Amino acid sequence: MRKEQVKLEAIVENHYGSGGIMEKIEAGLKLADLDISSLTIDDLAPVDGFHTRGRMATRELAGLTNISASDLVLDVGCGLGGTVRYLADKFKCRVAGIDLTEEYISIGKKLTEYVGLSHRVELRHGSALEIPYTDERFDLVWTDHVQMNIAVKHRFYGEIARVLKPDGRLLFHDVFRGAGDAPLYPTPWAEDESISALATESSARKTMEQAGMKIDQWLPKGPESIEFFQKALARIEAKGQPPIGIHILMGDNAKEKIRNYLRNLEEDRVSIALGMAHKDSS
Ligand SMILES: C[S@@+](CC[C@H](N)C(=O)[O-])C[C@H]1O[C@@H](n2cnc3c(N)ncnc32)[C@H](O)[C@@H]1O
Repeated sequence: MRKEQVKLEAIVENHYGSGGIMEKIEAGLKLADLDISSLTIDDLAPVDGFHTRGRMATRELAGLTNISASDLVLDVGCGLGGTVRYLADKFKCRVAGIDLTEEYISIGKKLTEYVGLSHRVELRHGSALEIPYTDERFDLVWTDHVQMNIAVKHRFYGEIARVLKPDGRLLFHDVFRGAGDAPLYPTPWAEDESISALATESSARKTMEQAGMKIDQWLPKGPESIEFFQKALARIEAKGQPPIGIHILMGDNAKEKIRNYLRNLEEDRVSIALGMAHKDSS
């Protein structure tokens, strides 16, 4: 891997893996009166889906295709593994997840044990740019809010295409560069622009296609994402942060990051979309 990418990955991992996250999650669970011995995936949903509109978006994305128990699924940049557990639980399929942030993977493994899904789930520390799986292994690849931290987009989509079976599907949900002024930082994915690698939607589409993917659906999700963050901020203003939430993953300036992200969406500094593509085997 190129030297600059290795350097970027170290900064990205440092951004997400702030240390002490498991302790904060456990303290939050206690505060919310949730017992680890009887924890469910729904109890964890407010903290383990680190993407816009949380579980709502996960359900929408999964609804774009049929997922069956015989599918082998990979979540690239799986974070704490919330989506991995959701898919394994809902569709009874086997799901692997890889993520650059070692702390997330280690927490993800514990949370998976807590909810009794370790038999269907495999979480590994690794880079999206060197996916630690053989060619044509997966029926479905999922990626949610990851490519905005990855500068080498052709390698990102190229690796996804490599591990997909012919005609295998890609489900994606991503933040892109909008047509407005430069994005404001800090945001949830970057303290400043040095680790933010936003591509425009048209450039991301082109890179996906050049990697051998055919786009089936591309659905802009701006208005619903704006509404989601407006409501979330109003709730925080009125009641403070909840015991369990993604603010735990965002550090002391979580509110500022959410405010900036909302303004970036409102002013078209960034855009958001989800969709499906498949590996073109024609
Ligand atoms: C905003 S979080 C999203 C996590 C997860 N997809 C979710 O929806 O909860 C971004 C994730 O991308 C991961 N990431 C960033 N660059 C990566 C790379 N090059 N390879 C693998 N994971 C990466 C980070 O470690 C982080 O967990």
